[in-house]
Formats: sequence, structure tokens, C-alpha cells
Amino acid sequence: MNPITLVSLLSDGNFHSGSELGRALGVSRTAVWKSLSLLSGFGLEVESVKGRGYRLSRPIELLDQDRIMAGIDPETKEGLSLHLAPEVDSTNTAISTIERSGERYTVLLAEKQTAGRGRRGRQWVSPFGQNLYISVRFDLQGGPEALAGLSLVAGLAVADALQSLSIPALALKWPNDVLAEGRKLAGILVELQGEATTGWTVVVGVGLNHSMETDQSELIDQPWTSLAEYSDWGRNKCAAALIASLVFKFDEFQLAGFGPFRERWMALDFFSGKSVQLLDGSLSGQAGGVDAAGNLLIETVAGTKTVNAGEVSVRAG
Ligand code: BTN
Repeated sequence: MNPITLVSLLSDGNFHSGSELGRALGVSRTAVWKSLSLLSGFGLEVESVKGRGYRLSRPIELLDQDRIMAGIDPETKEGLSLHLAPEVDSTNTAISTIERSGERYTVLLAEKQTAGRGRRGRQWVSPFGQNLYISVRFDLQGGPEALAGLSLVAGLAVADALQSLSIPALALKWPNDVLAEGRKLAGILVELQGEATTGWTVVVGVGLNHSMETDQSELIDQPWTSLAEYSDWGRNKCAAALIASLVFKFDEFQLAGFGPFRERWMALDFFSGKSVQLLDGSLSGQAGGVDAAGNLLIETVAGTKTVNAGEVSVRAG
């Protein structure tokens, strides 16, 4: 029995008896009981009360292919192939095993990542059913210059997807963290799969904290927040909005690069006008926005310095 089917029967958070679950799944009560014990492996807590049955201690909205697709406009849907997985190591890694079937964008979402990856070798905390873990794969024509600003555009796509929610102090922390009230809401990891002479296969991974439980806090080494603090958007609605926004922006990026996004990006710039310094201490000054390639500009006593996203990390000083 697929444990996800069992989770979906329990996802409403109500009690369900063992025999009811067995009937729905076409298996014995003992088989149900065995499968229930597997759910703790997903980090799901199942309560069992004599005479009432079983329930999840917290209802969850499972990812649903039809609901996500229904939230994406027809034009965007046309060029896209969407895949869902209950559990992968990392969606950025697992997407490379998905064969192409003529689509321009391959999208993979997982309920859980066992080895979610963040920037600079960090882990990305990825519990089951609480957040969104999305990877988008597409081809980009051109040499290294074609990649300039891509990761900033991905951050902007996430911020713009959430724009209608009026999240307080929604901002982009260069190069691509999405913040709400100074706390991390989403992170982006751009990776290249195989360099073709004429271009790149790009994988853009987006992790958005949707309704992360606070018991994950000890695993996270920076201030963070979840979308559920600001909005009642379910995970499927949110996934659809993110995917549509990413694809829309990537289409435009492929035609015109970062330039057309620069002004909008600067309007959300978290560092704008702040004192900043490189983490290695080699440079400090005042943040002065980004250039047409998405590099961070820092005004120093020795003039304006350009910092490339691949090189360094920056913090407000
Ligand atoms: C960061 O801010 O450090 C980047 C986090 C990126 C996390 C996402 S979740 C989906 C995709 N799969 C991964 O393993 N990482 C990215």
C-alpha cells in the first residue's frame, strides 16, 4: 500500500477507524496498522484513540497534480511537465532522472527531501508536507553571460508570486533570499547540469517555508518565517502561483536577460542603502543596488566595487 494514499485519507485531521481505512484501501486492519507505523518515518504524528480510530495530530494539504495544474494559466501549462514525488534526496538532484518529453520546463515537487541542499553547502530543512520544495529545469542558450542575473530573477519570481498577499516588508536579500520582516521565507539554489557548447541546462531549486513547525527551529541557523503566518493560501495554490511566476519570468529572461528586471528587483532590495560587508571581511561599504548583470554594487572609500553572486556572501554590517 502506498503510504501517501493513507496520508491523504487522514489529511483532514479527523478520526478514522481502522476498519474504515482498511475498507477504503482494500486491505486488512492489521495492514492499516502496519502502514500507520510507517508514517512516523515521514515525520507525521498519528494519534490513536480507542473507539475513535486514528488521526494526524495536524491536518495537512498534500500536493495534488490536478489542483496545481488548475491554478496555472493555459499558456504556461502548455510548455511544462509537472512531476510530484513523496520523498526524494533533493529535487535539484532527482530532476535529472526525469526524461524529457518535448517540454520546455520540467518541474518537480516533493513532499519531503532527505538531503535538501541550500547555498554554500548548507542543508535545507525539508520536513514532509510542511513546505514547498520545487525544482524547475530548462535550457538556456548562450555562454556564461547568459546566466548573469538568473538567480536574482528566480528570487523576484517568488516575491512577485506572493505580491497580492501584502506580506509586510517582503524583500529580496542579494543574491536571492526572499525575506518577510527580515526573516527568511524562501531560498533559491541555481545549479547547472552539463554545459553544452551552445548553452546550459539550468536547474532552479526553490524552497519556500509554508507552514513549518517550530520544532524545526533548532535545525535552522538563521531567522526564518513561514507563509502561513501571513496568508491562508494552501500549498497547492501557492505551488501553482510560484511555478507560473517562475516560468513567466524565465521566458522573459531568456529573451532579454536581467536588464528588464533590474528596477523591480531594486525596489525590493533588502540591503539598499545599508552598510554591508563581505563575510570574509575583505570589503565593506554601503550597498548601492545591482548592476545590469545582477552584481551587487558596494560604495566604498575606494570607489564602487562590484560583487559577483558566485563569489561571496554579504551581511548587513
Ligand atoms: C538557500 O537559500 O540556501 C537555498 C535553498 C534552496 C532549497 C531548495 S528546496 C528545492 C531544491 N532542492 C534542494 O535540495 N534545494 C533547493
